[in-house]
Amino acid sequence: MPRALILGGTGAIGVATALRLRAGGWDVTVTSRDAARVPPPLAVAGVRHVAGDRGDARHLAVALGAGADLLVDAACYDADHARAVTPLLSDVASIVMISSKAVYVDGAGRHANSAEPPRFGGPILETQATVRPDARALDAGAAYASAKVAAEEVLLACGAPVSVLRPSKVHGAWSRRPREWIFVRRVLDGRDELLLRGGGRGADHPSAAANVAALIETVARVPETRILNAADPDCPTVRQIAQTVAAALGHTWREIDVPVPDMSGVGRTPWDHDPPVRLDTRAASALGYQPVGDYATTVREELDWLVTTARQPDGSQWLPGPGDPFFAPLLDYASEDVWLAA
Ligand SMILES: NC(=O)c1ccc[n+]([C@@H]2O[C@H](COP(=O)([O-])OP(=O)(O)OC[C@H]3O[C@@H](n4cnc5c(N)ncnc54)[C@H](OP(=O)(O)O)[C@@H]3O)[C@@H](O)[C@H]2O)c1
Repeated sequence: MPRALILGGTGAIGVATALRLRAGGWDVTVTSRDAARVPPPLAVAGVRHVAGDRGDARHLAVALGAGADLLVDAACYDADHARAVTPLLSDVASIVMISSKAVYVDGAGRHANSAEPPRFGGPILETQATVRPDARALDAGAAYASAKVAAEEVLLACGAPVSVLRPSKVHGAWSRRPREWIFVRRVLDGRDELLLRGGGRGADHPSAAANVAALIETVARVPETRILNAADPDCPTVRQIAQTVAAALGHTWREIDVPVPDMSGVGRTPWDHDPPVRLDTRAASALGYQPVGDYATTVREELDWLVTTARQPDGSQWLPGPGDPFFAPLLDYASEDVWLAA
């Protein structure tokens, strides 16, 4: 039985990958820091959990044991993380590091978290320039991306067959930041109006955890050092995402356009990039990768999980709370009502 170890395996990508590999006959171990936040379906499927911090080299050695056919690193956030794992990679046949499309910069050096949005002029290829690994010293918005680039560089140079995958906006059950919550919560709260900045014409390529898992399984079979974008076969606009969620949950609302120069902040969503940010996924397809499905198909898993969990008495531990700093401004009904009244 082939063996897989997934570091940071209790979030969206980790769980989808663990369950897919397990269904395919793999022996799977996942790691994470918090043993109380291990999604129950993992144990049901026979996936083992080892608690520990990704930065602790001794914990990594214990989790890897005698080696593995596949190591998926879903919690590699900087060069120190990468350096902690490289001494162990001679015992691993195939390695996948989960990076991010946040690393890309356009011709003017703008990136996903720049004050001014990037303009890529079309779907982004893996050869597109990235932020510098030391960019965070000058640009706080580039901190996450530059640390990811630094980690990528360590792993790509270590001599082991490392596939670096760059997903975009991940969706999936057990996500720590399930972005579709901004629409699901509205449906559960019975909101009749949906404000959309710029009519919801922005787009930021989604990446289903189930599709990333399928790509991981594909690259595991052909170990090599490479970089691959990892995104859904389609790239819906914000408006289409909202409509997909509403239709899946049997809800209707009145869509209201918030003109772009409006500075109130209402109508914002996590996918507001205009011009849209899209990844070119032809390199993954050329390896034989078959997506599980398009956005509307694959997002059902996260939507079902959100609705079911929200209805459970102890479900709140898995979901964003009302004070969550990421979600609270995106679910600010009081400001929306003031804007509507004006
Ligand atoms: N979510 C996105 O939209 C997105 C987009 C692009 C790239 N990515 C990348 O994809 C990877 C996985 O993302 P995801 O969305 O599946 O993650 P997620 O839902 O946020 O889950 C993160 C996982 O990593 C674990 N973890 C975090 N820090 C850790 C540490 N120091 N030591 C051990 N485990 C740690 C978490 O468990 P504990 O907290 O219990 O430790 C959890 O299992 C990350 O590398 C992220 O940068 C994500």
